[in-house]
Amino acid sequence: MGSQWGYDRTHLRAKHEGYRSRAAYKLLEIQHKFAIIRPDDNIVDLGAAPGSWLQIERTLTSAKVVGIDLNPIAPLDGVETIEGDLNDPEVQEKVRSMLGVVNVVVCDAAPKLSGHKSYDQARIIELNEQALMFACKVLKQGGNFVVKSFQGTDFPGLYAMTKEHFYSVKTCITKSTRKGSTELYIVAKNFVG
Ligand SMILES: C[S@@+](CC[C@H](N)C(=O)[O-])C[C@H]1O[C@@H](n2cnc3c(N)ncnc32)[C@H](O)[C@@H]1O
Repeated sequence: MGSQWGYDRTHLRAKHEGYRSRAAYKLLEIQHKFAIIRPDDNIVDLGAAPGSWLQIERTLTSAKVVGIDLNPIAPLDGVETIEGDLNDPEVQEKVRSMLGVVNVVVCDAAPKLSGHKSYDQARIIELNEQALMFACKVLKQGGNFVVKSFQGTDFPGLYAMTKEHFYSVKTCITKSTRKGSTELYIVAKNFVG
């Protein structure tokens, strides 16, 4: 019951404060702890629908914010969106032409879950690796990357792979993550190529 109550409380708070989803508090906490977004950063948000992270990003930078999702994202002032798959090379090209320089890539994307634990874990890690490859393709040297993942047997491999490309890599379990969930974020700073 504790986690259910926690879910409802955060959900209601998000609604009250005008955020499109409870996920908003996760990015706020990550930003507070790690300062991943600077006031003039161009940002790409992968798996951005319905758009609560985009709402926060818009307040943290005066530069460009682009959100990408398989699903449409309802319009937001000062935010450009692309409806498409983060793996699609055309989407990646479009991002480059819209932003030029990319300083930050964040990814809260989650695949549709089947309910089969090991299959779902593999799908999540695959999506995480795809987000990492996306970041490596578009990020400026010194840029930052955040990706949502889940603890499990394949996680250490993803963590090690991220470390090959960034100077500093940490993990963060946010306070608004539901009790009992294995969800965590990789926070990678200072892209080295
Ligand atoms: C938990 S939601 C993101 C919530 C968002 N951060 C917010 O604050 O509103 C996960 C999203 O990832 C998207 N997604 C999953 N796989 C994707 C892919 N390959 N390309 C783009 N988006 C994807 C889903 O469509 C879904 O909207």
